[in-house]
Amino acid sequence: MADLNVTFAGVPFKTPVVVASGTFGFGREYGEIFDLSRLGGICVKGLTLRPRLGNPPPRIAETPMGILNSVGLQNPGVDRFIEEELPYLKTLGTNIIANISGETVEEYAEMAEKLSDAGVDLIEVNISCPNVKAGGAAFGTSCDAAASVTRAVKRAARVPVMVKLTPNVTDIAEIARAVEDAGADAVSLINTLLGMRIDINTRRPVLKNNTGGLSGPAVFPVAVRMVWQVRRAVKIPICGMGGISTGEDAVEMMLAGADIVAVGTALFRDPFAAIRVTEGIVRYLDEHQIENVTEITGKVLLN
Ligand code: FUM
Repeated sequence: MADLNVTFAGVPFKTPVVVASGTFGFGREYGEIFDLSRLGGICVKGLTLRPRLGNPPPRIAETPMGILNSVGLQNPGVDRFIEEELPYLKTLGTNIIANISGETVEEYAEMAEKLSDAGVDLIEVNISCPNVKAGGAAFGTSCDAAASVTRAVKRAARVPVMVKLTPNVTDIAEIARAVEDAGADAVSLINTLLGMRIDINTRRPVLKNNTGGLSGPAVFPVAVRMVWQVRRAVKIPICGMGGISTGEDAVEMMLAGADIVAVGTALFRDPFAAIRVTEGIVRYLDEHQIENVTEITGKVLLN
């Protein structure tokens, strides 16, 4: 069987398939139905310095090929996460990736320090949440702001730092270059695409927050294109995500330039989606007699 081991930002992953932030909670519910050590890593629900209730409902709207969400970073806050969730997560035999969002650069740095000390394997810096007024995507849409968050987190963190990029920009490659220059060890992309739905009878937006982030198969080609663009712009490794639901999708994302991939929205339809994606990658590698999954990263043959 093909070798699935990948070293990503200096961290060993036994498979290149992780689960995306916001789609797996803190792992407990999924841990009741399968062995989570079969995952390359778990990226936990986005954390903030203080607890957040999130946005008022409705905060999920269905679309033909995905969902719109405006959850608004509901989470118990970083201290309770460290006290109540991390001890369980650390028993699972997989990499734990803490996703952090802040309203200020200082908040990002404070969380990075706490989470490093608590022993997470990697920090994902969310500068791309479209659903909050302060912070979030505001940091991810300007090269200077993205770089200054990255620098502050790098100074505070004692584990590798991956910066999560928003697709809601004109040129995602220039944001990727800015965070690489600021010291990021990796980037992840794409977060959700800003969208909106309107109920034609009430003439009101379906989401209470009016707009939300679109994820699922609808965004997959956009994600592949952006991963390909970022691969050409930076040398640091890439975690590719956005609408991956099959092994074939994951292979496509890796050919575009991803070193590892994250499965997200597909988990809502099939809780075993990440395992099926992993099995699909193995099938592809075996069929094509490829020994190590790292051999396909960035290997698209352009026309
Ligand atoms: O609204 C949310 O909780 C989503 C976060 C994100 O897209 O980063």
